[in-house]
Amino acid sequence: MESRFMLTGMLIAGTLLGLSTSALAADKKKPATMTGASASMLANTCNGCHGPNGASVGPASPIIGGFSKDYFVETMEGFASGEIPSTIMGRIAKGYSEEEIDALADYFVKQKFVPARQSGDAKLAKKGAKLHDKYCEKCHEDGGVSAEDDAGILAGQWAPYLDMTLADFLKGDRQAPKKMAKKLKKLHEKEGDAGIKALIAYYASRK
Ligand code: HEC
Ligand code: HEC
Repeated sequence: MESRFMLTGMLIAGTLLGLSTSALAADKKKPATMTGASASMLANTCNGCHGPNGASVGPASPIIGGFSKDYFVETMEGFASGEIPSTIMGRIAKGYSEEEIDALADYFVKQKFVPARQSGDAKLAKKGAKLHDKYCEKCHEDGGVSAEDDAGILAGQWAPYLDMTLADFLKGDRQAPKKMAKKLKKLHEKEGDAGIKALIAYYASRK
């Protein structure tokens, strides 16, 4: 866990350096509001970590193409307010106006969610599939593929990201919807950390 955060931190420090200098350059040219920045121009800033079109190729940053608009906007707002814990997105999300977040959402919602190339333990994934059906399928439909329930996309998301995120939910650092919190707690009480591992292996195995 620790080393994962350090990895994220190192990747991020490098990207941010690039980010702040280009932001300064833009400020000099356009001292007033940056009207007219197209959605794809805004989205370019995200590519460094989330990959082209939100199809992140590195496990430290989640894949963000293809989410529902509601989930995307609520998550960005959650980062900005601090309600959703983050290593980096809190600072980034604060830098955008409501309209810009709306434009970014429209852009990324139209992109495809490209599943991560990663392998999962097949036996563990089988157990995870059963746990998913029992505890999670109700709101993460089609084995976590669907974006329509405004709950993000789990199938094919990077396993290290899901691992960190589920740990945040379990600790209560990120507030899950009430019913999800209940199911997650129940699953953890019954199946322990092995149950969480099985779920992650299942999502990692989905393409
Ligand atoms: C420096 C790297 C970096 C940059 C640049 C970056 N992100 Fe992120 N993003 C992350 C990381 C890491 C996370 C996981 C949360 C955290 O630790 O901050 C994340 C999480 C997210 C999530 C939540 C994904 C989920 O599954 O809930 C969204 C949405 C997102 N970023 C959107 C954006 C947008 C839009 C931009 C550009 C305006 C952007 N990010 C720029 C690194 C970055
Ligand atoms: C009652 C509906 C519901 C149930 C049941 C549910 N979830 Fe969720 N889940 C949501 C919603 C809504 C969100 C997004 C909004 C939020 O975070 O508040 C979410 C978000 C998530 C996220 C964050 C996705 C991201 O990209 O950051 C993960 C991971 C997750 N759920 C895993 C699970 C797992 C694992 C289970 C089963 C143990 C589960 N959920 C059960 C509704 C549910």
